[in-house]
Amino acid sequence: MQGSDAEGTRKIHSVSYRIALLPGDGVGAEVVAEARKVLGALGAGIEFTELDWGADRWHQTAEMMPADWESILRSHDAGVLGACGHPSVPDHISLWKMILPIRQRLDLWANVRPVRLLEGVPTPLVGRGPTDIDMVFVRENSEGEYSGVGGRVHQGLPEEVGIETSVFTRHAVERVVRHAFGLAETRRGLLTSATKSNASRYGYVLWDEVAAEVAAEHPGVRYERVLVDALAARMVRNPESLDVVVASNLLGDILTDLAAAIQGGMGTAASANVAPEGDAPGLFEPVHGSAPDIAGQGIGNPTGAIWSVALMLEHLGEADAGACVMRALEDICREGPRTRDVGGAAKTAEVGDAVAARVAAAA
Ligand code: IPM
Ligand code: MN
Repeated sequence: MQGSDAEGTRKIHSVSYRIALLPGDGVGAEVVAEARKVLGALGAGIEFTELDWGADRWHQTAEMMPADWESILRSHDAGVLGACGHPSVPDHISLWKMILPIRQRLDLWANVRPVRLLEGVPTPLVGRGPTDIDMVFVRENSEGEYSGVGGRVHQGLPEEVGIETSVFTRHAVERVVRHAFGLAETRRGLLTSATKSNASRYGYVLWDEVAAEVAAEHPGVRYERVLVDALAARMVRNPESLDVVVASNLLGDILTDLAAAIQGGMGTAASANVAPEGDAPGLFEPVHGSAPDIAGQGIGNPTGAIWSVALMLEHLGEADAGACVMRALEDICREGPRTRDVGGAAKTAEVGDAVAARVAAAA
C-alpha cells in the first residue's frame, strides 16, 4: 500500500473492506494484479484475500473452488474476478463449477456493464467519438438461457438429442427490468428492452409483458422494446440513440461483446455482478475472458479490470474513491501509456502503475 494511513483514509470512508481476489485463469491474474495495485494506491481501508480458484487448482484437486466457497465469498464485502476458463479444462467444468454457480448461488441477478468510449481509445466505428458511445447494459444474470436446465438422451448414437431449456420467471424479469428503469432515471431517461419475442412463444413473450408492466410504473422514462437482431445493427449504426439496455442472460452476453468492441475492444470493458439492495457480496470482473492467446506475455489491457474495481467502490458506497479511480483511468487512456490493443506498446503493468500513480497523487 502506498501512503500513510492518514493519507489513505482520505479517499476511503470505511475503516476496512475485505475484498476477495480471484485472479482465475490466463490473463485474469495479470489484470487483477493491476486492479489490486490501483486499489492499494487509495491507501488504507482495504484488506485482500487472494483465492487460487481456477484451472490450476482443478488440475491439482479436481475442483475449481473449495467446497466451502460460498461461505468464503460471503465473508467478504466484494470480490474481483479476473477470468474463468482455460483450454486444458472443458468449459462445462471451468464455467459450471465456478463463475456460473457463483452468480446463481449468491443470486447476483444483475450484470451491469457500462459501455463508454473513453477519450484516447480508438473505436472501430468510423467518425464516432466519446460523445456518441455512452450506454449501460443490464443483463439478467441468474436464469434465462443460462439456467442449466435440459438433458441429453441417446448419447453417442446417431439419434442423440440435446435439450437446453431457457427459464424465465416473472420474479427475475421484473427485478432486473425494474433495476434498469431505475438506472435510466438517473441517466438520459431511455430504456431499451431487447428480446426475440417474434420468433419465440413463451419466455421472451413473458419478458416483454413484464417489461411493459414495469414501464407503466416509470412514466418519466421512455421505454422501447426492440428485437435483439435489430438492436445489434443499431448499436453499430446509431450508438448515440441508446442509453440503458436491458436483456436476458444470453442476449446480454452477446450484445456486450459487441458493445465492448465498439468501446475499443474486449480489454476495455467492465462489469458488476450484483444483487442490488441485497447483502450478497458483488463480484466485479472485466468482460474479457482468460485470453489464452496472449496470456503470460504481460500485454493484456487492464482497463476493464481497473474500471471494474471502480464499479466495486461505487457499489460499496465509496463513490468518491470510485470516481477517483475512474478519473485516473480516463487520464491514462487519454495520455497513455496504452497497451497494444488500443494502439500503444505498453505492458499491462506499466498501465497499472500509471493509473495507480494518478490515484495516489489525487488529493
Ligand atoms: C461473460 C462471459 C461468461 C458469460 C462466460 C465465461 C460463462 O462470457 O461474463 O460475459 O457468458 O457470462
Ligand atoms: Mn461474455
